[in-house]
Amino acid sequence: MDSPTTTVTTTPDTTASGKSGVYHLRTAGTSIVVDARGTGVPVVVHWGADLGALNDAALYRLADLAVPAIPPSSVDHPLRLSMLPTPREGWSGRPGIAGFRAGSGITAIDLHLSTVNTQGARALVVLLTDAAAGLHLCTEIELSVEGVLQVRHTLTNTQDTAFELGSLDVILPIPDRAQEVLDFTGLWSHERRPQRSVPGQGIWSRESRHGRPGHDDAFLTVAGTPGFGFRTGEIWATHLAWSGDKRSWIERNSLGPACMGSGELLSPGEISLAPGESYQSPDTVAVYSDAGLDGLSSKMHPWIRSWQAVAPRVRPVVLNTWEAVYFAHDLPTLTKLADAAARVGVERFVLDDGWFTGRTDDRRGLGDWFVDSTGWPKGLHPLIDHVRGLGLDFGLWVEPEMVSLDSDLARKHPDWILGTPGSPTWRHQRVLDLDNPEAFTWVLARVRALLTEYAISYLKWDHNRDLLTGSAHRQTRALYRLIDAVRAAHPGVEIESCASGGARIDLGILRRTDRVWTSDTNDPLERQAIQRYTGVLIPPEYLGGHLGAATAHTTGRTADLGFRLATALFGSAGIEWDLTQASEAELVVIGQWVAQYKVLRSLLHSGSVVRSDTSDPALELHGVVSPDRAAAVFAYVSLAAPSVALPAPIRFPGLDPAKNYRVHPLNLGAAPRTVQDAPPRWLIEGGITVPGSVLALVGLPAPLLAPEQAAIFTLDAVN
Ligand code: DGJ
Repeated sequence: MDSPTTTVTTTPDTTASGKSGVYHLRTAGTSIVVDARGTGVPVVVHWGADLGALNDAALYRLADLAVPAIPPSSVDHPLRLSMLPTPREGWSGRPGIAGFRAGSGITAIDLHLSTVNTQGARALVVLLTDAAAGLHLCTEIELSVEGVLQVRHTLTNTQDTAFELGSLDVILPIPDRAQEVLDFTGLWSHERRPQRSVPGQGIWSRESRHGRPGHDDAFLTVAGTPGFGFRTGEIWATHLAWSGDKRSWIERNSLGPACMGSGELLSPGEISLAPGESYQSPDTVAVYSDAGLDGLSSKMHPWIRSWQAVAPRVRPVVLNTWEAVYFAHDLPTLTKLADAAARVGVERFVLDDGWFTGRTDDRRGLGDWFVDSTGWPKGLHPLIDHVRGLGLDFGLWVEPEMVSLDSDLARKHPDWILGTPGSPTWRHQRVLDLDNPEAFTWVLARVRALLTEYAISYLKWDHNRDLLTGSAHRQTRALYRLIDAVRAAHPGVEIESCASGGARIDLGILRRTDRVWTSDTNDPLERQAIQRYTGVLIPPEYLGGHLGAATAHTTGRTADLGFRLATALFGSAGIEWDLTQASEAELVVIGQWVAQYKVLRSLLHSGSVVRSDTSDPALELHGVVSPDRAAAVFAYVSLAAPSVALPAPIRFPGLDPAKNYRVHPLNLGAAPRTVQDAPPRWLIEGGITVPGSVLALVGLPAPLLAPEQAAIFTLDAVN
């Protein structure tokens, strides 16, 4: 978007203790200005559009102008929203930090600035202390080269008794014009449903107490100018990179300054800091965009892609056995399925739930991570040898955080299970206490033993219940340690994160995994919405999307093969269907689709994701444009009957206006069904060459697609 200029301007103030001043971080169309003068907690005086290069005098003036008047019936000094607002400062909204030291009578935390250090051109480290309360706080602020802001706090107890931490959050100011709020909710198989509101004064707070983000996770909290869309409007968005309990909120109150906050949701007594002990908050990740949600994706996606130290992994086409066979595992069935997968060009065969001791259904076996000797007398070797002999690699499902009460593990180590004997089961299972070092060591050893004995390239790592008991903080940290240990010992193994579908999709887990299972539904109509909104934050190559059976198992809705293929194309593609039951004609089309995916995936998995705001909610357009804008692939999707017979022209965003593009329809199997006598001429003629400016501003006449159809177009620059 904008040119990636980066500056950090520091105007030191010698009157303050330590190195203080006004700091300006800017890059990729975003500025953040921090007023760290004096001895108080620093104030973010601007987070938003790039202010350009400001000299020291201008920065000071900006910081001075941000000091408000003294309001009526208030503290007798200008009330400023600091980075960690507290009642001590006169802030009566939700505080940024809360806690107490038993018996000390200290409840009002009173932090003072010690020093500010710059770390390179785009990062600040702010040190604060409250000597009386015995607290030392380090706040790290970094603006990535892509324009993604990351903020985290580390709090240390410097006295010789325990400090009970209640909350420690990241709070950022938003301007008055950011009135409209978008966040998400959902259900199993219907994750990330967008919800919009214009909250009045008060707190609009989304809280997750699932021990995982949950199907109803807020996911992203976005505040924007009224009516912001995919391509328009200013937005300020936060996401907490954390897989446990959390909260995120927008606060607007009668004091005036509005803000957004996020942090881990701590239970009473959960964080009791021993003398010298520290608590580090999860990272709050924040983005400003002046180009709506696509502008957010244009910063988040390259940033997430930059985590991969080496070249990105090619995302193989997967066949997952779950909806094909469920628990009915046997070697002849699975080898036939692998043969059919190989025939259509699948590259990875993933054996889902059902392979380990006693696991005949979802009521038993979790924890007994040994290959079931009844069904698999020779272990998984015959199957894996067969799969690998076909040229596919092999993946295995595990759910290491869980235990069935009907398992050898539960019988032998009831003390490793979180909760009490009467605690509720969920999917007939309980949670293994990973914070117990013995349980942790045991489960790590089992996963490692499987990875050592078998040629496994990929783990599908599932998590099928809420925690409900125990410490979500400790369990989540232990989970991260467990995955990190597996990865360190087996660096070549890829991990897919799954949680009853998409109940644990966040940037904490994504840092440690290669793919997420976006949702348990393979119904393309549901998937269009789930992928569209999950993809605002997460790049498509991480989003598992599978071709399911004609009649979706989760909804009972039947969809055409073409619509199912078009939907599964725009992610990390796979198949979850008993291909041994597919017709010869279907297998041919699926083979062509796999071949097409292999051609397109380098574009799909590296380009900019773009989406159009359409006036008709029944019609959507989304696509991916290559980084050099020489190629693109788009899907024009009809979700339901359109509102008019001649839909608005399809306008293609994100292209180079100066380039000419050849636009080709790409049929995956049969052409999408239309409900008109003759589709537009350019489609009958098989394509057209048009300047990018015309494609963006005027568009091409649209076919009148029948409901639940998608037309795919590839675009190639021809000059
Ligand atoms: C829930 C997952 O989301 C499914 O894909 C499947 O792996 C089942 N668990 C297996 O129990």
